[in-house]
Amino acid sequence: MQNFILVNKKINDFKKKSITIPGDKSLSIRFVLLSSLTQGKCTAYNLLESDDVINAIRCIKKLGIKVILKGNKCEVFGNGLFGFKYKKNLVLNTGNSGTTARLLCSAIIDSEYPIKITGDNSLKKRDMRRIIRPLKLFGAKFIEGNGKLPILIKGSKFRKPINYIENLGSAQCKSAVMIAALKTKGVTKIKSLISRNHTELMFKNVLNIPIRLNHKKNYDYIEVQGKNEIKPFNYHIPGDISSASFFIVLTLLSKNSQLILRNININQSRIGVIKILNMMGANIKFFNKKKYKGELIGDIFVKSAKKLKSIRLNEKLNSSAIDEFLLIFLVASKCKGVSSFVKLSELNKKESKRLDWGVKILKMINTKVKKTKHNGIKIWGNQNFNVNKNYIIKNYMKDHRIFMMSVIAGLSLGGNWKIYNQDSFKTSFPNFLKILKSLGAKIK
Ligand code: S3P
Repeated sequence: MQNFILVNKKINDFKKKSITIPGDKSLSIRFVLLSSLTQGKCTAYNLLESDDVINAIRCIKKLGIKVILKGNKCEVFGNGLFGFKYKKNLVLNTGNSGTTARLLCSAIIDSEYPIKITGDNSLKKRDMRRIIRPLKLFGAKFIEGNGKLPILIKGSKFRKPINYIENLGSAQCKSAVMIAALKTKGVTKIKSLISRNHTELMFKNVLNIPIRLNHKKNYDYIEVQGKNEIKPFNYHIPGDISSASFFIVLTLLSKNSQLILRNININQSRIGVIKILNMMGANIKFFNKKKYKGELIGDIFVKSAKKLKSIRLNEKLNSSAIDEFLLIFLVASKCKGVSSFVKLSELNKKESKRLDWGVKILKMINTKVKKTKHNGIKIWGNQNFNVNKNYIIKNYMKDHRIFMMSVIAGLSLGGNWKIYNQDSFKTSFPNFLKILKSLGAKIK
């Protein structure tokens, strides 16, 4: 079977009443892991059926949890907060999913036996010390290796609450501490550099866990009380803004096009991409806004941008746009003027080194680009930018977002693109190509 796709025709003039984007990845993984800790049956509707979520489900099944997945409806039968069936020599493979690996380690902080957590080649390169450090303070023991997967984790009977400062701005770390805190007696206090707040919202509005939340300057202050039991819950998962962003950028960069994207999670801690694109001259609008269990959900309207302008962005919106920077770089290459972004070190700690890949791809298509001090990037844009050469994208650690960004680049800028590892997008967005084709995109 061919292991690449070819994109060699621009797409313009699409106007579609509306498209729906699959369920949010962060919320789907949180549903799977948190429901497995409840006492009873939980149901999710519109669960994302992607490889990352399937891997999370496989892991909780190995811990003795019954799961019934029918399409995007998912029933999880929790055995209680301390109800995982730990066995000797258990291996949990979290695939490509950093969120699953990091949150799962904290969920098994009471394991009686050492459990091996592993992942694919990309995940094995990523930093696990960021969660090993706090989980050790709770009492867990690690056979660390070099702080990368595979790791062996053994829980503790004597788990104690902790005080922790999370300084990376990582929602995965913050969430790992919050989940481990549930299995202690007492109150865990976290001071966390601002990052997506889905776990806080789920704890408060879905699981009814008494938590205290405060916000001062750039930090969230969170207090989580240990529990004995969590009641089961149902959850309707809204569409993923990170997946939606590929279509938003495609529309912006294509001629005579417009799109409505329905039922998307537009939580403030996730919509940095929209704020940034609007600062660059887009006119993306939210409507039909409603609150669901603490999360803001709405429809999004986007149309072709007439004039895009460059941006000099400080770090304030970085965490709320962290998964969308490759797309933002692409837009910057088609803007009038020089754009600059700063303090993006976390980008190089994702499924691939995304900051370096951003530079590499822009250079490849002949955009002037430079990495600057402190993990920044400077991009010299050109409003009339189009490309017409042959481009090959491979050896990118099968990073789903690099795959999808390259497809969008080909469809909106032109050129002949050969993009390898054609299954990579299934990590987060299994019907990505299908939706593109429904808009008229020609992809072989
Ligand atoms: C995620 C948090 C972010 C994000 C990732 C999903 C989550 O990572 O990049 O795709 O679901 O909590 P960090 O926690 O490393 O910032």
